[in-house]
Amino acid sequence: MQTDVIPSVIHTPDFAPDAARFIAEAAHAAIARAGVFRLALSGGNTPRPVHETLAGIGDLPWEKIQITFGDERCVPPDDSASNYRMARESLLDRISIPAGNVFRIRGEIDPEAAAQEYEAQLAAFAARFGEARYRHDILILGLGEDGHTASLFPGSPALAEAARNVIPATGPKPPPQRITMTLPLINASRHVVFLVNDAGKQPIIDEILAGSSARPAARVRPVEGKVTWLLGH
Ligand code: 6PG
Repeated sequence: MQTDVIPSVIHTPDFAPDAARFIAEAAHAAIARAGVFRLALSGGNTPRPVHETLAGIGDLPWEKIQITFGDERCVPPDDSASNYRMARESLLDRISIPAGNVFRIRGEIDPEAAAQEYEAQLAAFAARFGEARYRHDILILGLGEDGHTASLFPGSPALAEAARNVIPATGPKPPPQRITMTLPLINASRHVVFLVNDAGKQPIIDEILAGSSARPAARVRPVEGKVTWLLGH
């Protein structure tokens, strides 16, 4: 991230509506600029009400929106632990979006094969956009209680990945085997939005914003982009 770009922090009691509106406004701006909006969804539980609210915003041209996933658990797509299943239930089943606009990480196959398949999909689109690496307009991330984000956990070798965009990873939060976007891909984003709605995580956020954190989420510093913390607690 450009060193002069300070993360924005938005505290709101209307977490889901404000987060959904934030994403919708970014979508309209991206589509006006480039004809497409590239959105990465986060896993976990926090995004669910935001997705449900987003699905209810009537004027979004979903045919111009590409959806990717920041990480996935290595489970079938109908497993209760699947990030895709959470997104399908809370958003995808509630909107009319072309199937080809949703890039699902295949958690049900060999992790390395799934990671390479996903990298190839993103690389094909990046090439169309003339990009070295696929650039998300908005990349949504959550924050774990240990400061992990996506499936980049403290002490994980995945944090050191400097070339690849998507790799297998493991972590202490079950299920342990995952596939995750890497820091280079995350930091290629135009705008990363952390969605957090848990006051217990505020000390970690404070540490990250103070620049005194070595936690994985502190490593999210877009090279040519910005970070917003959208907090509901
Ligand atoms: C996952 C997520 C993970 C999540 C955080 C926060 O697959 O679990 O990618 O990074 O965003 O663990 O999860 P909650 O929103 O459930 O607190």
